[in-house]
Amino acid sequence: MIRFEHVSKRYRGTSKPALSDVDFEIQRGEFVFLVGASGSGKSSCLRMILREDVASDGRVVVLGRDLRGLSTRKVPYFRRHIGAVFQDFRLLPNKTVFQNVAFTLQVIGSSRAFISQAVPEALALVGLAGKEKRLPHELSGGEQQRVAIARAIVNRPQVLLADEPTGNLDPATSVDIMQLLARINANGTTVVMATHEAGFVDQMQRRVIELSGGVMVRDEVGGGYGDTSALPSLAPEPVRGAAAVAALTAVLELQREIAETPPAAHVPDESDAPAEPPPPVGETRAIPIVAPDIDLAGLGLPDVARKLGLGDRDDRSDEVGPTS
Ligand SMILES: Nc1ncnc2c1ncn2[C@@H]1O[C@H](COP(=O)(O)OP(=O)(O)OP(=O)(O)O)[C@@H](O)[C@H]1O
Ligand SMILES: [Mg+2]
Repeated sequence: MIRFEHVSKRYRGTSKPALSDVDFEIQRGEFVFLVGASGSGKSSCLRMILREDVASDGRVVVLGRDLRGLSTRKVPYFRRHIGAVFQDFRLLPNKTVFQNVAFTLQVIGSSRAFISQAVPEALALVGLAGKEKRLPHELSGGEQQRVAIARAIVNRPQVLLADEPTGNLDPATSVDIMQLLARINANGTTVVMATHEAGFVDQMQRRVIELSGGVMVRDEVGGGYGDTSALPSLAPEPVRGAAAVAALTAVLELQREIAETPPAAHVPDESDAPAEPPPPVGETRAIPIVAPDIDLAGLGLPDVARKLGLGDRDDRSDEVGPTS
């Protein structure tokens, strides 16, 4: 689906190549972390996948197209299959949430009927239903990134590129965004994410491609960040794989539900249960809300633990379940 064949990239006016002989292949449906120090070439890789840059040597093949041979006229059509999110969100400041997401579809000439269906679906998927009329400055950073993600996926791209998507967010919000990307990947979208966040990379146990000075030094299935000593971590204690991801998702959904519950005393009954909207085509149901048997403080989320009223428990275990 994405293939780098001995790719090198030299930017004009620089002596040292940004990428040297980078060679990898990413299959459909994979979740791949691109890691490495600042300046190691992560963004350069993503820009080449998006055909914002072309390789100086070697070939970049994405969705069956050799990108060097792709004419400028065809680039916009090619990019319809690829969503992208960035550290700085890149929302249109004077447009509402709805308009920001709809804009992608308007640009490619989607019908009004399609837009009025697809935009609410994308916003519901990222957890922003009801905030359609807000302007970006009326949203938190995490919410702004959710809008950017909704915009990136509203056209159901086959590939989602994320360049430091959590770089401007606090740890708890970052985990939230991370779970959203994992869910999008679970729905079949190939995700390639450049990050410095060692905690995520270690927790998620997905494929890791590491760059160092433009050279690929590691390509590991289910790897961690490597030497994390110099990097910020979200998880001081090692946690394991998909079970940890599922538990964190449950925690965050529970947290969101608590935050959205009106403060007035109210005993819910069955009639309060909101009718669930049908999931968008191809979407799996959200993970059910369960109280997870998990050391939240150990995951770097003591604040979440406090809000949920999940204090220390005698039967608590640092283990979160089997690695899948
Ligand atoms: N447009 C450009 N012109 C010249 N040099 C560039 C250009 N873009 C990137 N570079 C150089 O290429 C190298 C790789 O940069 P790149 O942005 O890909 O790194 P990165 O891994 O994304 O870093 P960071 O973690 O800081 O975002 C760096 O040495 C950078 O200075
Ligand atoms: Mg970068």
